[in-house]
Amino acid sequence: MPHKNFYITTPIYYPSGKLHIGHSYTTVAADTISRYKRMQGYDVMFLTGTDEHGQKIELKAANAGVTPQQYVDEIVAGIKDLWKLLNISYDKFIRTTDKYHEKSVQRIFEKLYEQGDIYKGSYKGLYCTPCESFWTESQLVDGKCPDCGREVEQAEEEAYFLRLSKYADRLIEYYDAHPDFIQPESRKTEMVNNFIKPGLEDLCVSRTSFTWGIPVTFDPKHVVYVWLDALSNYITALGYLNDEENKFEKFWPADIHLVGKEIVRFHTIVWPIMLMALDLPLPKKVYGHGWLLLDGGKMSKSKGNVVDPVVLCERYGVDAIRYFLLREIPFGNDGVFSNEALINRINSDLANDLGNLVSRSTAMVEKYFGGVLPGNRESGEFDYELINLAIEVKHSVEHGIDNLEFSTALTDLFKLVSRTNKYIDETAPWVLAKDESKAARLSAVMYNLCESLRIISILIAPFMPDTAKAIQSCFDATDIFSWEQADTWGLLPDGTTITKTAALFPRIDMETEIAALNEINPSASADAKAEKSDIKENITTLAQIGIEDFAKVELRTAKVITCEPIKKAKKLLKLTLDDGSGTERIVASGIAKWYTPEDLIGHTIIIVANLKPAVFCGVESNGMILAADCGEDDVKVIFADNMPVGCKVR
Ligand code: MSP
Repeated sequence: MPHKNFYITTPIYYPSGKLHIGHSYTTVAADTISRYKRMQGYDVMFLTGTDEHGQKIELKAANAGVTPQQYVDEIVAGIKDLWKLLNISYDKFIRTTDKYHEKSVQRIFEKLYEQGDIYKGSYKGLYCTPCESFWTESQLVDGKCPDCGREVEQAEEEAYFLRLSKYADRLIEYYDAHPDFIQPESRKTEMVNNFIKPGLEDLCVSRTSFTWGIPVTFDPKHVVYVWLDALSNYITALGYLNDEENKFEKFWPADIHLVGKEIVRFHTIVWPIMLMALDLPLPKKVYGHGWLLLDGGKMSKSKGNVVDPVVLCERYGVDAIRYFLLREIPFGNDGVFSNEALINRINSDLANDLGNLVSRSTAMVEKYFGGVLPGNRESGEFDYELINLAIEVKHSVEHGIDNLEFSTALTDLFKLVSRTNKYIDETAPWVLAKDESKAARLSAVMYNLCESLRIISILIAPFMPDTAKAIQSCFDATDIFSWEQADTWGLLPDGTTITKTAALFPRIDMETEIAALNEINPSASADAKAEKSDIKENITTLAQIGIEDFAKVELRTAKVITCEPIKKAKKLLKLTLDDGSGTERIVASGIAKWYTPEDLIGHTIIIVANLKPAVFCGVESNGMILAADCGEDDVKVIFADNMPVGCKVR
């Protein structure tokens, strides 16, 4: 096989607190791709790490009474433990506090300054001296500092700037010449229309208001802006401008940067411009995946669900979590995380389908043939349907992973799991076993089941490595589990010993489990309470938005035509709305706890009409319903029954 290299990265994580299940999303996806590529024979470099500088960390450390370095060291150790638990097979873990990285960033900054791409300018704005913060006019509250309420004054501070403006045209040309550079496609449109076309302003790339950062060598009262520091990790980790590694030639440009959607802007505007200025090739692809949401909002530990990945792995096993993350939501879209959805997936796909198939098949070989697959076989009805599907599945799985459609890849793979279960029902081995003249047929059925299991175990390995191993350990055979061998039927040698396995995924009783989760997460309701009172206290100090920001939100009246619960999601209702456009609109809303469908049908409500679609438990939701938080655990939909449908609300 020709020598092939593959370089994949995740974002480097802020060690500013405990990671939640949403943080595991990018990393599990990157790990799956890395394992898949390795199995295909690539020489893979999988990079992850931590982004440790910045004012936020400095403040958190001060609050905790430790140095920033002590503060990050402890959290980074926890992050590494989490990746170990989740079986993340990274090849390098970079910390932006690593000395080699700091040195390289300083050299990059110097180089860009020497060639004029970074210049010294001044940052002008309204300044609050006690808070050491610049504000824009629209951020002020009653003309005063939104943080402390004191007077602000016009001020000017020297700072270094990166000439983004100089590269705007080249960047658009690059996008046009490389249509796959930003994926999914919609994110590219967003970058061009929202950021590049309105005009790229030069970016302030140094700070003087705090010290926890990499000092600018030739002007050390400035520290390098965290994003410039962080983005550079993708090349410093390979040894760019340092002697730590010697992998730059081999692995750069990266094949893919996997990132969450909110940081696509940095990866497709700032980072490419830095690379152009450094005269380096650009990464081949930046993929911006969607978010895992809780009840339609951002993930936090205080919203009633258990989102701690360590707790979830302990209760359900690492592979169940990996499977859920990749199967439940199409990777490019947002989707809702809930403990119920997770348990449903485990019960239906893993316990009922996969786990059951493995234990039934291996138990039957043991029962009927003392665990040894006989060579005497006779083919029969249903065999070819199973065999044809089995040898085609590899192609579908490859297509899915290559296109970052993990959910489709797993759906296709599980079609083989279902087909194999069906094969057991069709061939009814327990009936064959009663008739001695059918021994050769029974032996063929057992062989086919085991062959199918062998193929499943190979293809599932990138997603669920422990499960693959567990299935393969039932076979007393080696050298039949390589990726190459996943589309060839009949590789299992006659006489192979098969050992029966215990249930891989025990069924979970939903009610007992949810009750247990509520027990272990008593902080959820207390935190939610605290969060609400925080909101009340903070309302006067919220960051202000301009009227132009508000104008971006399109609020419309709409009438509820039909409404029904969404199976598998206790909290969600699916509403069909007449929004006056002539086309029905589907919206999923997390209000099932407070409303039955009958409470809503026929009422006119207010929706956010220009919200990007998101998929919740298989339902694509196009908008959001306005509702008020009226106290602890009390939510009221805002009815607008006296209004016609389709009115704009301002
Ligand atoms: N430090 C920056 C990245 C610098 S890369 C040069 C950062 N760190 S982060 O810790 O805030 O986020 C790391 C990754 O986790 C991001 O890709 C982010 O999108 C992802 N996620 C954080 N919460 C998430 C969900 N709830 N759902 C899915 N991914 C989410 O950004």
